[in-house]
Amino acid sequence: MTAEVARQMRESGVVPKLAVVLVGEDAASAVYVANKARQAERIGFASLQVRLPARTSSAELSAVIQRLNNDASVHGILVQLPLPPHLSAEAVACEIAPEKDVDGFHEVNVGRMTIRSSRSAFVPCTPLGCMHLIHRAIGQELKGLNAVVVGKSNIVGRPMATLLMHAECTVSVAHIHTRNIEQLCRTADILVVAAGSPGLVRGHWIKPGAVVIDVGINRLAGEAGAYRLAGDVAYDEAVEVASFITPVPGGVGPMTIAMLMKNTYVAALRAKRADSQRHVGVQPRSYG
Ligand code: GUN
Repeated sequence: MTAEVARQMRESGVVPKLAVVLVGEDAASAVYVANKARQAERIGFASLQVRLPARTSSAELSAVIQRLNNDASVHGILVQLPLPPHLSAEAVACEIAPEKDVDGFHEVNVGRMTIRSSRSAFVPCTPLGCMHLIHRAIGQELKGLNAVVVGKSNIVGRPMATLLMHAECTVSVAHIHTRNIEQLCRTADILVVAAGSPGLVRGHWIKPGAVVIDVGINRLAGEAGAYRLAGDVAYDEAVEVASFITPVPGGVGPMTIAMLMKNTYVAALRAKRADSQRHVGVQPRSYG
């Protein structure tokens, strides 16, 4: 997937630039941000990291985002989540120019994706990556399959359910208040788990032959201050029952980064097209 983006980039001559903003000292976020920047540079993108202290005010963060919005050399902007509690992720997402919102969290992109608008949206990277994995396991046709999404976050659960509905699946969303969650999961031909709860989904919750996508990345304390990563699915049990299951780490994570690269490349390509249209006198599209 990333190799395909790199090839398209070489052919088009467009060099995308991704700006990643990290607020605070969250250790896991620092690792994710470093991975994103490393991958961007590895495939030949330009990248920019902005690190801000945890005490950064919303006005200060807005000023940084406005500067990046106005910088024509930057094509994609990502503010790593979670943010410190005094900052609103939803408000911050809506300050990023929609055409640079490679996370797909701005309400314009959420709206376009939800109504399947022909004016193409940026789709959040993790659900997009999960859809690629599901198609890899099952093929293009998902019509009529039962899909269960565990978790209803804005980053994964909600957009994931929307994409599965667009693929004509019958979709259920389970969450903390769901009754008989085990029984519901057992109806799933496609089970996507993004609950943030290590080992929540056990082997006997899974329908034999199901496709299981584990989005959870939980850091569990190990010995001597070390930690290990665990998914939301009890992998050793599930692997005996599922026809396809993603490991943690190494399953969904690399796919999310690949989708981020794809979205950033698309943003750069659109910026180049908008620029050449401006030069021939076509009015740029407004978001007002
Ligand atoms: N934190 C966890 N996943 C994501 C993501 O996809 N985008 C951003 N910006 N922050 C995250």
